[in-house]
Amino acid sequence: MITLTRAEGSLAEGQAPLKVAWVKEGQLLSQGEALDARLVGLLRRALEGASLKEGESLLVAAPEGQVLLFGLGEDARSSGGRLAQALLRLRFPEALVEPLPEAYALAEGLLLGAYRFQRHRSEKEEKALTLRIPGAEEVLERARKVAEGVYLARDLVNEPPNLLTPLALAERALELRALGIEVEVLDEEAIASLGMGAFLAVAQGSENPPRFIRLRYAPPGARARLDLVGKGLTFDSGGYSLKPTESMTTMKGDMAGAAAVLGAMKSAALLGIPVEIRGYIAACENMISGRAYRVGDVLRTLSGKTVEVMNTDAEGRLTLADALFYAEREGAKRILELSTLTGAAMVALGEEVAALFATEEAWGNQVREAARRVGEKVWPMPLERAYREKLKSPVADLKNVGDRNGGAITAALFLAEFVRVPLVHLDIAGPAFARKAHALGPEGGTGFGVRTILEVAQAL
Ligand code: BES
Ligand code: ZN
Ligand code: ZN
Repeated sequence: MITLTRAEGSLAEGQAPLKVAWVKEGQLLSQGEALDARLVGLLRRALEGASLKEGESLLVAAPEGQVLLFGLGEDARSSGGRLAQALLRLRFPEALVEPLPEAYALAEGLLLGAYRFQRHRSEKEEKALTLRIPGAEEVLERARKVAEGVYLARDLVNEPPNLLTPLALAERALELRALGIEVEVLDEEAIASLGMGAFLAVAQGSENPPRFIRLRYAPPGARARLDLVGKGLTFDSGGYSLKPTESMTTMKGDMAGAAAVLGAMKSAALLGIPVEIRGYIAACENMISGRAYRVGDVLRTLSGKTVEVMNTDAEGRLTLADALFYAEREGAKRILELSTLTGAAMVALGEEVAALFATEEAWGNQVREAARRVGEKVWPMPLERAYREKLKSPVADLKNVGDRNGGAITAALFLAEFVRVPLVHLDIAGPAFARKAHALGPEGGTGFGVRTILEVAQAL
């Protein structure tokens, strides 16, 4: 647990058992200005011969207390994240941190870097960490509210699939009512009477029933509207097109799109962003049983279009087809959809970069620019219409998979069949889940997408 509070006065004036001073290219960042003059000489001597690259540190004992010299990199957010992790590792309960010109990025980095998921550990590793930092309270407040949303998204992704069932995910969404967000949860019967045949087919193999979750954050005088859709597979076994063990190990995270939607809506409400935001999540499991959907089944989607199932592991697009069509029917003017949709996106761009597909260039650019501003990596991919052929079925309007090539594109083309308003599809299969610890957090859920959504909303 990290607490970030404003420090009265400067680094020099403040009292603390530990002060953190930044070092860049072997020099004290502030040339010592931010520190007590007597200390500076001591620190300079300690630094001699030590270059301190990003994330490296040197602990110096001074008469007035300890000083941690910490290597600053190119990016204040990442350096903040690494610092928070170092302080946790060194088990310091409290520190006074030298501010940076990029005050907001530093605050956000400190909070994101300190995230831990220890709910299911008998022995919790680290205790509380309190960081004090000189600067404006508004900056810290904003970082706290954004981090809350990212933390929620990470928690949901990290929660194991036996505990985070579709029902449990709906419960977590309902908790957002406390922030003034309207949340409605539709059960199987309601989903069936709406006619969401594709979503229901994916869900039907599981003992855990599906839920359709709709959220609405509508501040008075909202200046714009944004509609979000998130993939909500609380577990994806692949179904009868079963995944090999290795590929299944991260499939509790197949609801990372939904998690990003919930996290962003939570932060948006905390921040009071003056934009109406609606969220749609088709939550279910993709499992095997005598009731599970088969390869060869023909499904009738909410839109009326029929789909021949050629691979039960291409289930996300089936649930999303119904969720997207529903969102548009509810009056969406533009949709931002996030999903851990294809392994192919990861083959193309690796595990750190999300694939961005847009049916309209302007909307695509808005999302791309927002992502760039907050430091979430996305890259545009072509929605190549020529490949629509690959989705032709001999018996239905569409089939749910193309061939081996261009798998992320055919998945995006499939989704685009179910919306007419501008759609941005972010395939977050790679960046949603970190396979090892990184600057801004530990292995596991990253909360990818939350900060981009917030930035998109803020700029509307
Ligand atoms: N949830 C997976 C995609 C995925 C893969 C997410 C790896 C995160 C990491 C999705 O439902 C899936 O299985 N997609 C198939 C599609 C294929 C059958 C056309 C895939 O990518 O193999
Ligand atoms: Zn799948
Ligand atoms: Zn999936």
